[in-house]
Amino acid sequence: MNFLNINKKTKNDDPDFSYLNKDVLYLDSACQTLRPQQVIDAMAEYYHEYNSCGGRVKYDWGIKLDEKIKETRKKVLSFVGKPASEYAVAFTLNTTYGINLVLGQLPPKFKKIITSDIEHNSVFLPTMTVAKKLNIPRVILERSVNGSLMYNKDDISGAIVVLNSMSNIDGRELINLKEITDDVHKTGGIVLVDAAQGISHDQKIIRESDFDALFFSGHKMYGPSLGVIIIKKSLLVALDIGFIGGGMVEDVEAETYRLISDSDDLGSRLEIGLQNFAGIVGLSASLDWLKSFKKEGVSAPVHQEKLAQFLFNELSKIPTLKLINSSPSPITSFYFDKIDAHRLAIFLSAQNIMVRSGYFCCHYYLKNLKKYPPLVRVSLGLNNTKEQVEFFVKTLKTIITNL
Ligand SMILES: Cc1ncc(COP(=O)(O)O)c(C=O)c1O
Repeated sequence: MNFLNINKKTKNDDPDFSYLNKDVLYLDSACQTLRPQQVIDAMAEYYHEYNSCGGRVKYDWGIKLDEKIKETRKKVLSFVGKPASEYAVAFTLNTTYGINLVLGQLPPKFKKIITSDIEHNSVFLPTMTVAKKLNIPRVILERSVNGSLMYNKDDISGAIVVLNSMSNIDGRELINLKEITDDVHKTGGIVLVDAAQGISHDQKIIRESDFDALFFSGHKMYGPSLGVIIIKKSLLVALDIGFIGGGMVEDVEAETYRLISDSDDLGSRLEIGLQNFAGIVGLSASLDWLKSFKKEGVSAPVHQEKLAQFLFNELSKIPTLKLINSSPSPITSFYFDKIDAHRLAIFLSAQNIMVRSGYFCCHYYLKNLKKYPPLVRVSLGLNNTKEQVEFFVKTLKTIITNL
């Protein structure tokens, strides 16, 4: 039943997302952002005009692709303000894959592994398996409501520290990342950052930190399905590379091989086999799009802040709604005592509103530590507008009063 009568099949007036119908209200950007037309066009151009393999071929298509790949690695580093002399960029499947790849190949010299209570399963689970493999203790530290890690210096001494820079539950940010990294480095430890959410929202925290490795997904930053690893070259050459194959070596003998050693191409040590070349090209277009984004004269962070503030204010006025967020964020979760979150998501879907329901791969924190019922999560993207958020709130209110 469409009791709000919204099914008007008119096209979206945002030219970057004009392929969408106006009545489509996508509020699940924390899972996967929508792709601007520019990203789709860049990928189509690769398929139509220079569909070739990177790093191997001498014909023009391949040379053009190699240039694009090189340029994308540079853009990634520039996006997070890190120098190519110190850091390498590797492309992979997604954030989860990158985290597993680096954690699984670390040398056995660390005293413990530290993570936090609000981590996504993509960090929570690999830290368990690596602790077992390296036979070191694993410690879960608390994140405060403002997102900072609560720790004392002994906790993190000589440790592998793996944390998100922004939570996918309520968007809280790791505001003390710089301090953590400085403290960990003094004791010979390393800091690995899951920036799956943080990368498209706030690069300031990331830029200020001297992290050892950072992971993100193109599909959460308006790009294609692709993972990115930014890693210090000093850590990369110390990895015990065991996941191996084509594209990573300079020479191979019957029983030995020599990994790529060219400093400009070190990221290839983590790129096993042929890569998602259209994805790399599309990522480059998404970085350009994000950098130049302006809506109603404001930049991406300001646009998102305004929408998040509005959503937070409106949701705070609904007396039966229990907000998880303590402050506004483009990622906002809530529940009702008497309304099942999945049922609510299905009712919203009937009105063309797409939200998430459940535990968002944070089972330990949400289900087992906090004992929350399944939640509803609204995650805003740069394609969303104030009118859409207003419409969402109005629809939500209508649904909950009719249930
Ligand atoms: C904070 C966080 N970390 C990691 C991931 C995993 O990302 P991917 O599925 O792209 O590997 C997600 C996905 O939602 C996330 O929100």
